[in-house]
Amino acid sequence: MDVLEILKKYSTKVDKEIDNALDTVDPENLHDASKHLINAGGKKIRPSLVLLSSEAVGGTFEKALKTAAAVEMIHTFSLIHDDIMDKDEMRRGRPSVHALWGDPMAILAGDTLFSLAFELVLQTRQEDVPSERVLEASKTVVDSCIKICEGQAFDMGFEGKFDLQESEYMNMIYKKTGALIAAATKSGAILGGGTDEQVEALSEYGRLIGMAFQIQDDYLDVISDEKEIGKPVGSDIVEGKMTLMVVHTLSHASDEDKKLLISILEECGEEEVDEAIALFKKYGSINYTRDIALQNVQKAKKILEVVEDSPAKESLLLLADFVLQRSH
Ligand code: IPE
Ligand code: IPE
Ligand code: MG
Ligand code: MG
Ligand code: MG
Repeated sequence: MDVLEILKKYSTKVDKEIDNALDTVDPENLHDASKHLINAGGKKIRPSLVLLSSEAVGGTFEKALKTAAAVEMIHTFSLIHDDIMDKDEMRRGRPSVHALWGDPMAILAGDTLFSLAFELVLQTRQEDVPSERVLEASKTVVDSCIKICEGQAFDMGFEGKFDLQESEYMNMIYKKTGALIAAATKSGAILGGGTDEQVEALSEYGRLIGMAFQIQDDYLDVISDEKEIGKPVGSDIVEGKMTLMVVHTLSHASDEDKKLLISILEECGEEEVDEAIALFKKYGSINYTRDIALQNVQKAKKILEVVEDSPAKESLLLLADFVLQRSH
């Protein structure tokens, strides 16, 4: 099976769970704002990871379906709020929620998705899953939401911190992106009835591909075109974000180039974006970043050795590679 088929396999079922959960939201403008990005359809990587992780430990996808939907809703909530924070007007090829409804309604739409997600996780009790496992899965998801907030706060706080260490960057991306992806694989493994060893392995696999996912996202922000990626390109440079490419260039550049990059990050229009990219290239930062991401993916695949071979495991291995092959 190819990756697009894997991602599509259960997407109708996941969408149906999300639609049902959002059905009763009132008033209409809050309902529409909450559904806007869901309707735009993302890649659905996180829900696929939840379902495949359940299957990889011998469970059914049904046991994890509500949590898969919940994780996609939490992801969407984080994107709606992220676009407010990053002042990005495009998402999934459409105007972002705050661009259409304004910040106050976008905040509420995010909060609505966030709250309904937990109601869904708790409904898993109807699927014949022991309550201790449902509780464990909800704890996992809750914990990742706290980490997203911490990670996003670090992300904002790092703007202008030009002496940022690579380890600080890694901790930030683990929290803002890796934690939810790790919660997806971990909660799936818990609900599928995995042993402690399997749950731990899938959680670590998720953390590692999650970190690689954010490194690739930072890379795509630099090299993509907006049509393909569905969100603005060069936005990280314009916003002065400390990506791994920036951290690497700043720690290797001559004083003169360092000054130039800092001045671009502090104050830049669209024209200077190319200048920043030329500096990343000059200091090998793009290749360096790709190598780090690749190492994470290879480690993630290795960790899956403790899980028995199955079609689901095969799909998880393919998804690990897809993290770096994707172009949007
Ligand atoms: C984008 O995630 C946000 C990051 C964590 C980098 P995705 O690239 O998975 O977004 P969608 O869901 O496919 O739109
Ligand atoms: C992902 O970081 C943040 C989230 C956890 C939502 P980005 O700010 O880089 O995500 P994109 O590029 O806007 O999707
Ligand atoms: Mg952001
Ligand atoms: Mg953003
Ligand atoms: Mg990004």
